[in-house]
Amino acid sequence: MLRRVASLSLLTLGLLSQFVVGDNPINAGFPYGSQKVRGVNLGGWLVLEPWITPSLFDNTGNANIVDEWTFGQLQNRNTALNTLTQHWNTWITEADLAAIAAAGLNHVRIPIGYWAFEVGPGEPYISGQLPYLQKAVTWAGNHGLKVIVDLHGAPGSQNGFDNSGHRISFPQWHSNSTNVARTDAIIKTIASMFATNTNVVSIIAPLNEPAGYDGADVLAVVRQYWYDSYGNIRFPFGSSEQSNTVVLLHDAFQPLSYWNGFQTPPGWQGVAIDTHIYQMFSQDEVSRTNQEHISAACATASSLSSFDLWTIVGEWTPAATDCAKYLNGLGVGARYDGSYPGSTFVGSCTGITGSASSFSSSYKTFLRQYWEAQVISYEKGDGWIQWTWKAENADDWTYQAGLSGGWIPQDPTDLMYPTICG
Ligand SMILES: *[C@@H]1O[C@H](CO)[C@@H](O)[C@H](O)[C@H]1NC(C)=O
Repeated sequence: MLRRVASLSLLTLGLLSQFVVGDNPINAGFPYGSQKVRGVNLGGWLVLEPWITPSLFDNTGNANIVDEWTFGQLQNRNTALNTLTQHWNTWITEADLAAIAAAGLNHVRIPIGYWAFEVGPGEPYISGQLPYLQKAVTWAGNHGLKVIVDLHGAPGSQNGFDNSGHRISFPQWHSNSTNVARTDAIIKTIASMFATNTNVVSIIAPLNEPAGYDGADVLAVVRQYWYDSYGNIRFPFGSSEQSNTVVLLHDAFQPLSYWNGFQTPPGWQGVAIDTHIYQMFSQDEVSRTNQEHISAACATASSLSSFDLWTIVGEWTPAATDCAKYLNGLGVGARYDGSYPGSTFVGSCTGITGSASSFSSSYKTFLRQYWEAQVISYEKGDGWIQWTWKAENADDWTYQAGLSGGWIPQDPTDLMYPTICG
């Protein structure tokens, strides 16, 4: 009894002192910081990407349909809706979530576009994705997986990539306060939708890959949007009651050091940073040897391990080239084989993407080594989420093909090359 009283008062003191310094650690749905995030993205499902499902685009017979915007704009809308509905019903099912859990993973990140929530006048997007997000959350819960709800496309497009929904030469999100206000409202909707289910939806990522490389004006808008998102996600109950949802901020393509001290405890709680690591979107990177790819992966460990927020590599891949069909956009070639405008031939794309049945055993050994080098390095931070679970015809990229092809282990801690980074 005495012991009980003593520990109770200790607890009270602890809570009190936390309150006094404004330190109210959240009770997150996953022990971020002490256990590693190991996960996979459910890419190309609720946001179309031509390289993940080229057949959906090729079947339109219209080479101007290059993203989800033009998918709704340049064909019969009933045809588009029927194709999308069929895709939503089949691309990811509960069996995928079961297989992901069985592979020893603990998270899925689910990209979704703003047009699942509202579509403005003149915007050709087709809605209907939201019930599938809600189903996926149920399935994830059934299989013990945590969900990151990731807003992947904002009004105006935050980066102009086809994977934002709208492939345009200069993004319009940041330069139009109406676009930003619409995005804030969607984050509020998402936060309140899942506020009492943070044991499954443990994280909300308020915006994927805003184009910070476009300049200081973009970064200024992003920083303010991150402040507003913190409030929208942390206080979803219309009161001072806080949610347990972790806020995952993308680095906006800046080095982690740019974000030093941003939204750190004790003033801010439950904030993590998301960085995406790819080695194929420049001539320099596709020109690297296999060993140089592995060394570059290993070299990421120190900045990941020393950053002052939880650090998650929310996108990465064992693929080392940009050979996958439409990866750089529908109708755009690859740097690796010199078919991308202005690029220089490095090697043939034959046998390094598409079906794994064309992969040599030495190539599969490289994929395994590169995968392990990345897993080892990204676990020096707080973990990783591979892009992506499945694709129609890009086995070098997918977790599913890696599991069946043997270059991804059935248990992600079962490493064959544990000293590959030295
Ligand atoms: C800003 O974006 C909204 C849609 O979110 C659009 O209706 C409006 O015309 C845009 N304003 C300007 C100045 O482009």
